[in-house]
Amino acid sequence: GPRPFAYNGPRLEVSGVDLVSLAEQYGTPLYVYSADNVRSRVELLQRAFAGVDHTLCYAVKANSSLALLKLLGEMGCGFDIVSGGELERVHRADAEAQSRVVFSGVGKLAWEIDAALEAGILMFNVESEAEVELLSARAQALGRTARMALRVNPDVFAETHPYISTGMSEHKFGIAIARARAIYAHAAKLPGLEPAGVSVHIGSQIRDVAPFAESVKRVRQLIEELRADGLNIRYLDAGGGFGIEYGRKAFDPAERVTAYAAAIKEVIAGLGVHLLLEPGRFIIAQAGALLTRVIAVKQNGAKRFVITDAAMNDLIRPALYQAHHEIVPLELRGRAAQVADIVGPVCESGDFFARDRETEALEAGDLVALLDAGAYGMSLSSNYNTRGRAAEVLVEGGKARLIRRRETVEEMLAGEVL
Ligand code: LLP
Repeated sequence: GPRPFAYNGPRLEVSGVDLVSLAEQYGTPLYVYSADNVRSRVELLQRAFAGVDHTLCYAVKANSSLALLKLLGEMGCGFDIVSGGELERVHRADAEAQSRVVFSGVGKLAWEIDAALEAGILMFNVESEAEVELLSARAQALGRTARMALRVNPDVFAETHPYISTGMSEHKFGIAIARARAIYAHAAKLPGLEPAGVSVHIGSQIRDVAPFAESVKRVRQLIEELRADGLNIRYLDAGGGFGIEYGRKAFDPAERVTAYAAAIKEVIAGLGVHLLLEPGRFIIAQAGALLTRVIAVKQNGAKRFVITDAAMNDLIRPALYQAHHEIVPLELRGRAAQVADIVGPVCESGDFFARDRETEALEAGDLVALLDAGAYGMSLSSNYNTRGRAAEVLVEGGKARLIRRRETVEEMLAGEVL
């Protein structure tokens, strides 16, 4: 299957490593990732796009753990960043990979732009006219030239959750594609700027390939116009957003990625660009799980609640997007199935992982895994309720190692002043 998590007899393993042992050794809540699964996803993408000149710029926001960034840098990946903080992560994980960084985001600050200019990143994805001016000013001040793309908004609809759809004219992202040509012409005259590409990103968790093809088609047309205007446009950044299946529906990542690549390759055939892609979720979501222990089980009226030691501060996707994550016991005990809400201890009714979910009956002390939690799990975690963030473990070659220790109360309070 698409996941590295599988039962060996009654016990769940990740890439052959027993998860009960990991939960006991490192405690819960615990994020566990399979390096092998990450590598195989990157290889799938690399193989699918093998015929075209391309760079995979992994979207750091999906999971920004340094050890993962290092692994991806070693595989030749570049990175899509959205802040000075993410740039610093790339710098620490793989300084050389900074030359393969694209910088996206609707509100870049001067210090972040300066840091990226000093780091010599590949390209800025500029999202407003004001940012064109700011980037020019900063590049000039530092005596640098900024390679830039406009992130255009292609006004393409893609089926996904409204909070993670970005490619329509009502969204805050990018610049309307119809206005792009004039803005490029202006940018080309400004000091310190080198218009070098066009970028697009229509949203996240998109499983249909048609909207990707449609948006890239519109971008291709713009590139041809810009070239006719005399600009040397050599990068086409097709963004990220390629989705996975969270539930039990059959999902063959190899087959899907082949279809995705075929659709994009067909649209850019003969264009002569270096293709950039910004995948996040496809690479890391299914490699990871959140392990948690059941604290207590209780019955309130007609409802049964399974309360776990992980909460919405560890994994907010169900609360924020009504996202579905499979929840499976780390040890099958042959108990009867039971329906319950699986919830965290945080003081919000929105703090749930699943509602009316059927699982093998769970009892206090049991360990469960929330699957497909590698993307937008740890990276969206918080200290809400003054809960320290979970630890993270990376499994590689049959061995597990801690890549981030559990956050202590002391660390949470360190910046505060009485
Ligand atoms: N590039 C840009 C400009 C983006 O904004 C994003 C994601 C990506 C690439 C990577 O998209 P991916 O390949 O991972 O779909 N927290 C939400 C997802 C937010 C996505 C934000 N932008 C979730 O948990 O579903």
